[in-house]
Amino acid sequence: MYTIEQLTELIDNCTLCELHKGKTHYVVGDGNIKSKIMFIGEGPGEQEDVSGVPFVGKAGQLLDKMLASIDLDREKVYICNVVKCRPPKNRNPQPEEIAACINYLRWQFTIMKPKIIVLLGSVACQALLDPKFSITKRHGEIIQVKKTLFIPTYHPAALLRDPAKKKEAWEDLKNVRAKINELGLR
Ligand code: URA
Repeated sequence: MYTIEQLTELIDNCTLCELHKGKTHYVVGDGNIKSKIMFIGEGPGEQEDVSGVPFVGKAGQLLDKMLASIDLDREKVYICNVVKCRPPKNRNPQPEEIAACINYLRWQFTIMKPKIIVLLGSVACQALLDPKFSITKRHGEIIQVKKTLFIPTYHPAALLRDPAKKKEAWEDLKNVRAKINELGLR
């Protein structure tokens, strides 16, 4: 069993896939590791790579607004990504890069024991639920795996590209808030 500090040190020395060669910073996570609510994106973008903090660019600013819309903020949740290094030109992480990195995320689950995991976009859903997962068809579903509820929704970058999806994302977020209340997490 690692502490988050020990895990961070492990990640900060990782060479398990090629992505570390192009990175500026490893991006481990942000927010409250003691929270029971986790948000998982895809991988760091340019600004995240520069700062070492997930979701600080344009998509991150929208994520902050999405959190605020259901009375959450970075002190109340933990935010991380499927891969901890920026893929070149923000391409999707490749299956072998996800396979190399996924144990770090599993350790983050072990440390946090999240009750609700909000999956942001298809990369996170496909890595954690089903390689064929369709976010268009299944966003907003509440998927129980053992004692954890997974709730998929659109990635904020997808909402920036297609604002028409924001209405659906808002419905998903209302499901997240309802479950938080039902479980007495806030
Ligand atoms: N997109 C992601 O999936 N993660 C980040 O940290 C930033 C943008």
